[in-house]
Amino acid sequence: MIDARELVDTKNSTQAKKIFGDQEVYEQELERIFGRCWLFLAHECMLEKTGDFITTTMAEDPVVVTRHKDGSINAFINSCSHRGNRVCTADSGNSKSFVCNYHGWVFGADGSLVDVPLAETCYHGDIDKSKLGLPKIRVESYRGFVFGCFDDDAPSLEEYLGDWGWYLDTFMVGAGEGMELIGPPMKSTLKCNWKVPAENFVGDAYHVGWTHAAALEVLGGELGMLAGNTAEIPYAQLGIQVTTRHGHGCGIIRQAASSIHVKRENYDKFNQETIPKVAEKLGEARAGLFDGHWNCTTFPSCSFLYGTNIFKVWHPRGPNEIEVWSYVLVHKGMDDATKKEVVKQAARSFGTAGTLESDDGDNMVNATSINQGTQARKNRMSSTMAHDYEGPHPEFPGIVGASFIGETSYRGFYRFYQEIMNAESWQAIHARDDEWDDMFENKDFWKNKIAGNK
Ligand code: FES
Ligand SMILES: [Fe+2]
Repeated sequence: MIDARELVDTKNSTQAKKIFGDQEVYEQELERIFGRCWLFLAHECMLEKTGDFITTTMAEDPVVVTRHKDGSINAFINSCSHRGNRVCTADSGNSKSFVCNYHGWVFGADGSLVDVPLAETCYHGDIDKSKLGLPKIRVESYRGFVFGCFDDDAPSLEEYLGDWGWYLDTFMVGAGEGMELIGPPMKSTLKCNWKVPAENFVGDAYHVGWTHAAALEVLGGELGMLAGNTAEIPYAQLGIQVTTRHGHGCGIIRQAASSIHVKRENYDKFNQETIPKVAEKLGEARAGLFDGHWNCTTFPSCSFLYGTNIFKVWHPRGPNEIEVWSYVLVHKGMDDATKKEVVKQAARSFGTAGTLESDDGDNMVNATSINQGTQARKNRMSSTMAHDYEGPHPEFPGIVGASFIGETSYRGFYRFYQEIMNAESWQAIHARDDEWDDMFENKDFWKNKIAGNK
């Protein structure tokens, strides 16, 4: 077992470069992170009718997710209890049962084994079907987003999200009618470690003006001023960065939902009409974030951009490869024309062939491979930006950084990464719940800043 304190130095905010490519690190991540955290499976809108199913993966394990006749959503490891073959090979559909392709065992939508060919003749009746169902996975939903967890000792999904739910509710609850995910997902393979895009989405607004400089100039929106990272920016006014317990986090650029898009009249109108409703429901603080552009990661590997409304899952396929699954996030209450506009712009920017997606892909592949050089991997990476410019905030939960450009949420992501990689159990993690924000040193940052501003 690797001591994750070697991988992540939380005091100096550095990470070992080998964190991106080492097989042993990866194996520990599969057990301790993907084996114990809540992982995104589907949205309820993909499983509306009895018998609806989708297949996905939780890390490398294939999973079937079904809507059972009692209305519950169930998830199982998609591996036959006879000789382990995949029992469902379709991406999605509607079925009362799943028949294994190998010898024909039949499983119900609740994962139970319902039929075994030649059970009487060849097994001589000596087979207990009740013990041979598909291995069941814990399933819970948050605002229609369905997550699965392999660990019975993990907290509930709501507790796992904690303060992060407060931020998610800004759009999941604020607009009144909830969200939908439009699929099927666009899929692509990228030769990079899963943490490179996860950390990028959790808190990297720094790269936007540089990596995406050409795209920003061509698009010419409000963020055009970032192109080249040379202009003075309204650093403190433009937005915030946030990390919450369990490594979730985001950066939010205020009033920038449409800033990386050519004109989106319908969506902009939707935002302006909805902001007062958010204010009434959730208060001014969240209403002020509603038409922002958000870059987010729900730990460990579910990321999205709200504003651009692309929703991504980084499915690890070894230490050096991921499958990227991209959905489009829309409000249920949007009319069809607005939904279409959002889908088009999300695909154009961050779909598989999106203009900004390909800028990022190149860096993600390189950050993975270069860090594995025989000598390079002995060194460390840093995430120290604005280290003292963060702390608990009077309005926003979690630890809040001074601006949307910073590395507060990187630090939070890797603090929890270190913690869960070393923790024997969820009990050990809970034991630190009351003191997790002690890890951030400048606790009076916002108090002093606000006092100074008065
Ligand atoms: S492996 Fe599934 S029926 Fe044999
Ligand atoms: Fe990017």
